Amino acid sequence: MRWSGFHKRPHAERLDLVARHAGLDAEARAALSAASALELEQAEAFVENAVGSYPVPLGFAVGFVIDGRDVVVPMAVEESSVIAAASHGAKLAAAGGGFTTLAMDPVQLGQLEIRCTDAEAPGLLAHIEAHAQAACKTLNGLIPGMVARGGGVHRITAYAVPGRVVALLHVGVGDAMGANVVNTVCEAAWDALEVPAGTQGLRILSNHLPDHRHATATCRVPVDVLGGAEVAEAMVAAWDFAVQDPFRAATHNKGILNGIDPVVVATGNDWRAVEAGTHAFAAKDGQYRGLGHYAVDGDHLVATLAVPLAVGTVGGVTRLHPVARACLQVLGVTHGTDLARILVAVGLAQNLSALRALATEGIQRGHMALHARNVAMQAGLTGVEAERVAARMVADGPVSVQRARELAQDPS
Ligand code: MEV
Repeated sequence: MRWSGFHKRPHAERLDLVARHAGLDAEARAALSAASALELEQAEAFVENAVGSYPVPLGFAVGFVIDGRDVVVPMAVEESSVIAAASHGAKLAAAGGGFTTLAMDPVQLGQLEIRCTDAEAPGLLAHIEAHAQAACKTLNGLIPGMVARGGGVHRITAYAVPGRVVALLHVGVGDAMGANVVNTVCEAAWDALEVPAGTQGLRILSNHLPDHRHATATCRVPVDVLGGAEVAEAMVAAWDFAVQDPFRAATHNKGILNGIDPVVVATGNDWRAVEAGTHAFAAKDGQYRGLGHYAVDGDHLVATLAVPLAVGTVGGVTRLHPVARACLQVLGVTHGTDLARILVAVGLAQNLSALRALATEGIQRGHMALHARNVAMQAGLTGVEAERVAARMVADGPVSVQRARELAQDPS
């Protein structure tokens, strides 16, 4: 295996391997290894009242085969075990040929709220239907760049909710996340539609994408690799528990987002939008449910995950943040849909790994090794000494700062 033993290599060697794999230039390489690659000047350009930047560890999950391609996945995350679990899930999937993915066209939704009486609603719905096509044309005149790239307002539909009619704009956003372009057309939609009644309400993008911008990943894992048919069945039962029970569903979905969010962050995308979209999708039938689908098919476990992913490779800070730019190079993606396909595969890898652990020995043993090292560092230990003390705490317990201090005094 090309990436086996990656985690044991010194960090400079890891970076060399990734740089060679992705053909990184010197600038990208430097951005990935810098403790803080964001100049204060850049931070000030991104947000108001900036005083500095907040470093989060950046690591690489390896072993991903996605649509036949060897993909190295940058993850910016503070939680221990996440990168190890993603790599483990990738390895399980790779044993069955890896992930196969799909992504829908990047259509983002936006809303124009029209406040009205119940009596006005039917007339407004009919008006919007009759004027939608002309309004699309007017609105597209405001975003010629996006139209030239194949995007733009494709459709306007309408529906009523109590006290309002909502015009829903379906906007092709190309390789961008799309917030700016969607908000621009939403703010102009009242005039473009020549709305004849009611009053103008909110005009803003929607993060709820029940039927849009989905990316889907599937993998077929040989049950032997998982530890046998019983483990595979236990994983199906674990998924079913999440589908039926909202308390479990939230944790199951948090595990999926453990994979997705760090890549969203590493690529300079909006993780709040991805979170909002994922949770809304999980509740789309009125009950909050665990995402994905698991089934045993002969001697394979077949796992699938679909998630709406509003992410881009242009716009926002994706090309301005030096680390995000380098991470996109590592992933080898130029299109937003290609990024979404990788994200959903990483979410599924993370979920596979968590369900396998939960269905067998639990997560604590794997988690403890890294956690113990953090605890040793909290006790003031570093390097080899921190490793030694962490290993002893994992072997004999308990894992605590006090125990780490005691073991530091006891070199036996
Ligand atoms: C921990 O960050 C994530 C898990 O709890 C996810 C899950 O339970 O599926 C392990």
